Amino acid sequence: MELNFAQNCPTTGTIVVPIAKEADIVLPESLSGAEGDVRRAARASDFAGKAGQTVTIAGPAAAEGATIVLFGAGEVNASDDLAMQRLGGKAIAGVMKKASSVAIVAPDGAAARLAFGAIQRSYTFTKYMKKAEADQLPQLKTITIVTSEEGAEAAYAPLGELYAGVKLARDLVTEPPNVLYPESYAELCRDELTGLGVEVEVLGEAEMEKLGMHMMLGVGQGSVRESKTVIMRWSGGKDGDRPLALVGKGVTFDTGGISLKPGANMDEMKMDMGGSAAVVGAMRAIAGRKAKCNVVGLIGLVENMPDGNAQRPGDIVDTMSGQTVEILNTDAEGRLVLGDVLTYAQETYKPKAIVDLATLTGAIIIALAYEHGGMFTEDDSLASDLMEASAASDDSLWRMPLGDAHRKMIKSDVADMKNIGGRDGGSSSAAAFLSRFIEKGTPWAHLDIAGTAWKKADTDTEPKGGTGFGVRLLDQWVSQHEG
Ligand code: BES
Ligand code: MN
Ligand code: ZN
Repeated sequence: MELNFAQNCPTTGTIVVPIAKEADIVLPESLSGAEGDVRRAARASDFAGKAGQTVTIAGPAAAEGATIVLFGAGEVNASDDLAMQRLGGKAIAGVMKKASSVAIVAPDGAAARLAFGAIQRSYTFTKYMKKAEADQLPQLKTITIVTSEEGAEAAYAPLGELYAGVKLARDLVTEPPNVLYPESYAELCRDELTGLGVEVEVLGEAEMEKLGMHMMLGVGQGSVRESKTVIMRWSGGKDGDRPLALVGKGVTFDTGGISLKPGANMDEMKMDMGGSAAVVGAMRAIAGRKAKCNVVGLIGLVENMPDGNAQRPGDIVDTMSGQTVEILNTDAEGRLVLGDVLTYAQETYKPKAIVDLATLTGAIIIALAYEHGGMFTEDDSLASDLMEASAASDDSLWRMPLGDAHRKMIKSDVADMKNIGGRDGGSSSAAAFLSRFIEKGTPWAHLDIAGTAWKKADTDTEPKGGTGFGVRLLDQWVSQHEG
């Protein structure tokens, strides 16, 4: 998608003109000859700028090559960044299927945010549509933001880097699991990030074996694909400053293993690497805008498959932390991957704080549906930082309970803990399991994004499918630590 900013409104193609509630209809100067026709059409349709109301005028006098779309913006406040972002998304949504070039007339002061929303909403993934009819494919090639603001392009630059991160995360989540598996994923991280100054290191099974990461390795044991841990370092801060750590679950396909999932919709489990995608996307964004902060991203990549060599329910495994874990359900695999990666992160980097993201439990969807990610932490100060980042980024979080009562639920009769805590409070007992791998004093939060990483319906800024949830949030959280 090409995105540009222009002072003069084009007089061809589709032009979306947001109009505030009850506001006069004023067109950009280059279209002023069409104003009479457009106002008449608006009157005929009782257009009053109500949110979502639209009137389309094709080929008005004085602008025959243009299709003008009046778009009701409702009560607008140009300084409300998130509202402008959503407006940009809504403005493009109705026209992007048919038009190949769309101009959106920006309210004063909102050009960059409007652009950011529009580009997010215009995302498509068509690389595997090789013989589709042209009219089956999205036509949109160019978005032009019409604005007289001098600094619009400069204001958009960091948002453009952030979008590159969101797009990367969406692409990763959408890629099919025969293409994106641990090894190809690790290579892709190198290809995408090395050129931006991120150091990328990949651990294979032999290295993880040596480190004692047997709990993570057990998950990939039934797969012919080699498990990998990818470490991505961005050193934009002071030398020796302890980094922030971003940790992600990267199960490239989750069949459940021997505790096999039911067949219906199992294909959706290609998105079980959504946490890792958020981490990779965030690394892309913060490196792209040269964040003044040290950040390390760590993702555990495995494929959870049933096989003659797969891990069994009943197995007891050693972990890098020295604790032992009884595996009672091989489908509760994300926590097994994250546990060892969290230990590795702390031992290697002594991070200032850790945030992990994972499509960890179906239970979080039961609790929160698709609007909010679940946040689990016993650190109130980190909780408030993340809530602030959530409010500023539109990646919405809801705090969930975590404490000793949940840790009790994962007591095992034969090992230091078991990997399931039962149906009740399933997301909290999963978080409690992870908490057993966090050393005292390390600020840590776990974000369960099973309901937000993949959506079945469009939102204002997300077409249905992989959302890239977490990229905008992590970018905001990192920015709190800069300077
Ligand atoms: N990857 C799933 C969780 C999930 C469910 C993600 C739906 C996205 C959408 C996870 O590995 C899993 O299978 N969790 C089990 C845990 C249970 C066995 C304790 C679950 O939620 O059923
Ligand atoms: Mn599972
Ligand atoms: Zn899973």
